[in-house]
Amino acid sequence: MDFMDISRKRVTVRQFAQKPVEEEKVLKILEAGRWSPTAVNGQPQRILVLNTPESLAKVRAFCAFGYDQKYVDLAKECDDKTRSQVNFYYGAPLVLLVSYDSTACWVHPQSGQSSGATDATIVATHMMLEAASLDLGTVWISYFDASKARELLRLPDTWQPVCMLYIGYPAEDFKPNPNLSGRRKPLSETCFFNAVPEMEK
Ligand SMILES: Cc1cc2nc3c(=O)[nH]c(=O)nc-3n(C[C@H](O)[C@H](O)[C@H](O)COP(=O)(O)O)c2cc1C
Repeated sequence: MDFMDISRKRVTVRQFAQKPVEEEKVLKILEAGRWSPTAVNGQPQRILVLNTPESLAKVRAFCAFGYDQKYVDLAKECDDKTRSQVNFYYGAPLVLLVSYDSTACWVHPQSGQSSGATDATIVATHMMLEAASLDLGTVWISYFDASKARELLRLPDTWQPVCMLYIGYPAEDFKPNPNLSGRRKPLSETCFFNAVPEMEK
């Protein structure tokens, strides 16, 4: 498949079928991440694959809908169908927690900024696009309680969690969110050739 086809095909999925992701596909996704570029090729990414009921129960406890009382209360009030849309991890059978090891990153000599979050983000992006090429749905999750994740998953102190990818086959009745997916600004609003645009005063 042409790269642009994969890029356009990828869409955030928040309703997953209750079907495991084949091990062969899991390994392809991880392999795509392995070949990502990282600063000075430091490869500080540390990826925790979570796909057992025990591990996914931990995700439920530290993802936004597990720890944000607003959503916990909301989930209690709704019927089964709606609950699946407001609950914790949309029933994803596979979760990748992407962290970086802060001792393995490049540090910018002038700004002192670590490359870790950027490296981890690039790795996650490669994995997300590989998953799309394998007909799997994904959602990128930033909204989770990283300190609770650290505690429940016993992450080493030097690992800094950056994001999670929920991965799985889209549910049969999955429909992209019309308010978010498929909407992009025109290039003229985000890309500028050789000079920044005139700013209104
Ligand atoms: C950095 C980042 C953080 C995100 N965090 C969340 C999140 O915590 N929960 C969620 O449901 N979606 C999250 N998303 C998914 C975005 O809402 C989604 O990518 C965006 O609305 C565009 O829709 P599309 O992916 O279908 O094109 C995140 C995406 C990115 C790139």
